[in-house]
Amino acid sequence: MATISPSLPPQEESAARVVSDQRLRDRFGRALTDLRLSVTDRCNYRCVYCRTGNEGAQYTELAIEEYLRMVRILVSLGIEKVRLTGGEPLLRSGLVEMVRELSTLKTAFLPDGTPTNDGLPLDLALTTNGHLLDGLAMPLKEAGLRRVTVSMDAVDAETFATITRVPRSYDRVLAGIRKAADAGLGPVKVNCVLLRGFNDHQIEGFAAFSRRENVIVRFIEFMPLEEDRSWRPETVVPMREILKRLDAYRPLVELPQHSASETARRFTFDDGIGEIGIIAPVSQPFCGHCSRIRITSDGKLRTCLFSQSDHDLYGRMLRGGTDEQLAAYIRQVVLHKEERHHIGEPGFEKPSRNMVHIGG
Ligand code: GTP
Ligand code: 5AD
Ligand code: SF4
Repeated sequence: MATISPSLPPQEESAARVVSDQRLRDRFGRALTDLRLSVTDRCNYRCVYCRTGNEGAQYTELAIEEYLRMVRILVSLGIEKVRLTGGEPLLRSGLVEMVRELSTLKTAFLPDGTPTNDGLPLDLALTTNGHLLDGLAMPLKEAGLRRVTVSMDAVDAETFATITRVPRSYDRVLAGIRKAADAGLGPVKVNCVLLRGFNDHQIEGFAAFSRRENVIVRFIEFMPLEEDRSWRPETVVPMREILKRLDAYRPLVELPQHSASETARRFTFDDGIGEIGIIAPVSQPFCGHCSRIRITSDGKLRTCLFSQSDHDLYGRMLRGGTDEQLAAYIRQVVLHKEERHHIGEPGFEKPSRNMVHIGG
């Protein structure tokens, strides 16, 4: 493996750095450092913007050890951040043990791309609907989870039940958010997908919620990833409208980005209380700095939320692929990561899988 000699002159040193940077990269030069792993495609909600109302779908999950092997290989290739998703990941048996294993992994590269045997622990996070979080926040924290994001699409119980199609869950989710903060899994982020006609009257309520509960509320523009293909441009509540409403509620102040690949633009209010993120993949796409790849619950690699096909990593594992062969396969697959999505453009084709299978 090439290493950098401290005695090289500056230009040669930077050339050496490029050679030594063996992190996963696509053909546009984007380093892929962020893995989102779906550990089940089961879900205990049936959110209107995600699932059809039908029961009885088929589910596919791999063994925890199989996911762990994939993650270890990906970490050796430069993944620094792992987010566990679903379906609903808290339904997955063996999740706490899995987090315990993941928390022992270390990043394989320094931030400049130099390989290291002395890396940092992964940024280990989880996205949940919160229904089971009250009971699991402490065990997950104790196992090494760092942060949680809770999907919550309304701050009143009635609207919440209409969207999730599950009665009496709202109080459980609220208790879960509070327990997660107490357990040290904060700052807790709360994701709200805004749908015109369903929950767009909740914007101001969410602003008050962020200030009262000390959580980061993120409004997300609705993307065409749902099972029943109900997406319409008119249903999307665009960023500019959200900002206008929030600013009228109380003047907003923009906060600096944490990193170029961050999906959200961040704001607080004029008194510094509360934090709001706006994730605007439809009106302000952020694909140019995308650092994300995904593994579905059935072990397929996806290079974009909107990919037209996935890549059968698990199939190669089953056929006896060695770690080196799987790593070479992953490198070759990610080279072809899509440049960007084409939502709203003529000829847009919906992706080959829905959000509940891909994981947010
Ligand atoms: P952190 O910001 O690291 O805390 O992770 P997070 O999962 O809380 O937020 P993230 O920004 O990763 O994702 C939040 C939401 O943004 C997701 O639920 C999606 O709706 C959307 N999103 C995330 N990644 C992508 C992406 O690659 N492309 C698009 N178009 N949308 C994405
Ligand atoms: N558009 C935008 N975000 C979505 N999510 C689920 N479906 C969509 C969609 N069609 C979000 C959820 C959750 C995360 C897993 O993905 O709200 O926060
Ligand atoms: Fe389940 Fe998430 Fe889909 Fe809602 S959005 S039905 S919580 S997978």
